[in-house]
Amino acid sequence: RAARIGARLREGREVPDAESLSACRRCPLWGGATQAVPGEGPQDARLMVVGEQPGDREDLEGRPFVGPAGQLFDAVAARAGLDRRQAWVTNAVKHFKFAPRGKRRIHQAPNRGEIRHCRWWLDLEREQVKPELILAMGATAVESLTGDRAGLMARRGGVERTEDGVPVLITVHPSYLLRLPASERVAAEALFEADLRRAVEMLG
Ligand code: URA
Repeated sequence: RAARIGARLREGREVPDAESLSACRRCPLWGGATQAVPGEGPQDARLMVVGEQPGDREDLEGRPFVGPAGQLFDAVAARAGLDRRQAWVTNAVKHFKFAPRGKRRIHQAPNRGEIRHCRWWLDLEREQVKPELILAMGATAVESLTGDRAGLMARRGGVERTEDGVPVLITVHPSYLLRLPASERVAAEALFEADLRRAVEMLG
């Protein structure tokens, strides 16, 4: 069914929406999540921002980057002159993966197979939006877009390419900044801001 929907989306040049993503059974993550979280933004955005997967809040609200990591991203992006509303904001994996612990749902990183299966959707989004630049935030996005997640810290701030040649600016995930001790957070946030500023400059 998802393949049929994919073919229809390709023909119709529509970006995958919540309904089509919800029919996806390529990996088991759909079973635990509340809903699939589609990307959002202008379909002709020049910049695509890619995170890891929806978090707890995103899973409940059905929108990407609306929880704590998204709020931090918005704040730093604003300082860097990057207007989120002009970007296509999405995730490498569209369903929330978690382990239940009492009443809480603890985030779990998607594995290689889940990332690979969901790349089918990300590729479809890339085909429709055709961004000039992709900002890959964190190892999962970097793996999905470049095929290799190793050595993120050495690669961050650099520009690589997708298989089909689209530039990918590599940076850390805002959740990583949220986990840092206060003593390290200021410097790390400044580096993140510099990466976002580079994205703005690259787009001219
Ligand atoms: N973290 C992500 O990677 N994406 C979201 O949408 C929210 C948190």
